Amino acid sequence: MALQNATIDPDKLNAFMGKMLSDVGAAMNASLLLIGDKLGLYKALAEAGPMTSQQLAEKTGTSERYIREWLAAQAASDYVVYDPGTGHFSMQPEQAAVFADEDSPVFLGAVGDLVAATLRDEPAISDAFRTGKGVGWDKRDKCLFCGTARFFRTAYRHHLVQEWLPALEGVMEKLEQGATVADIGCGHGVSTMIMARAFPNSRFYGFDYHPGSIDDARSAAEAAGMADRVTFEVSTAKTVPARGYDLVCFFDCLHDMGDPVGAMRHVRSTMAPEGTCMLVEPFANDRLEDNFNPVGRVYYAASTVICTPASLDQEVGLALGAQAGEARLRKVANEAGFTRFRRATETPFNLILEARP
Ligand SMILES: C[S@@+](CC[C@H](N)C(=O)[O-])C[C@H]1O[C@@H](n2cnc3c(N)ncnc32)[C@H](O)[C@@H]1O
Repeated sequence: MALQNATIDPDKLNAFMGKMLSDVGAAMNASLLLIGDKLGLYKALAEAGPMTSQQLAEKTGTSERYIREWLAAQAASDYVVYDPGTGHFSMQPEQAAVFADEDSPVFLGAVGDLVAATLRDEPAISDAFRTGKGVGWDKRDKCLFCGTARFFRTAYRHHLVQEWLPALEGVMEKLEQGATVADIGCGHGVSTMIMARAFPNSRFYGFDYHPGSIDDARSAAEAAGMADRVTFEVSTAKTVPARGYDLVCFFDCLHDMGDPVGAMRHVRSTMAPEGTCMLVEPFANDRLEDNFNPVGRVYYAASTVICTPASLDQEVGLALGAQAGEARLRKVANEAGFTRFRRATETPFNLILEARP
């Protein structure tokens, strides 16, 4: 075996083992992230300030012995701070913003749910690796649905109305005056509701092929008192009814579809002649080697276990992957009949692409 004859460079090996130790630590702590989020441990610690394990356990109705161990792991991860002088644990504002504040622009509290969902579905994904078949979004662990909605909500809440919609040509004016909007593959309808709240004169329709997500989206619209102008319907992208939409949005879902060209082609036929199609896709450069960075690493992993199997489960099964990049997405839009296409804006996590008929 080649390995037996290989010369190991001890410095390189040490550096690589150091990196791996850190990665193993992150992987082992993923379930603790979920536990901290689910049981409200981060929120309680951030709100109440420095606490002992006993105090945190009492405040959250949990067992002190478990909390003591959880806090030790959190402090060893630099997720919370430990003061050996007092035996108190606390969170710095930056740590609280990431783990405890649902409305902060850097909230990552939903990550535990996402990781858990991918691990729970691993047997089906391993089988799919062998067969080449897909695993549909609608057949996934339910943690994936609420985890995705909460994970993406952070970006939508802080960028969608403030930056993404204004970056599209003439769309803000239409939305303010009263536009008809379709949100395709809307999931729990978080993006739909954010837009509806910001533009009370406009009418919003959210579509998703997963009935469970549409049920949750409808409940959210009713709870927010917006069900009169926000409607959620179970529909695939290729069966969305034509209503002369001024704006059609695909939030992080085009690459999950089996036939993204067919989906965009159909959607184009449902739009107003001068309408706009906004594609929000994970940020990616066009070449594989240009995505070897922390963001690309997260997205390629998610793409392998979530997005690629989702697409392969549907007709055509193009499987664009979450790191499709602008050039491939432009090709999809052009093949679907859109004649104008440009990158409207971007964040470190998203590409915002504008397609016009
Ligand atoms: C990654 S989730 C994004 C959900 C939502 N847009 C968001 O940003 O939170 C992808 C969504 O696309 C939906 N989806 C996948 N294929 C679809 C299709 N062919 N037609 C309609 N929806 C689809 C899934 O059910 C899922 O809700």
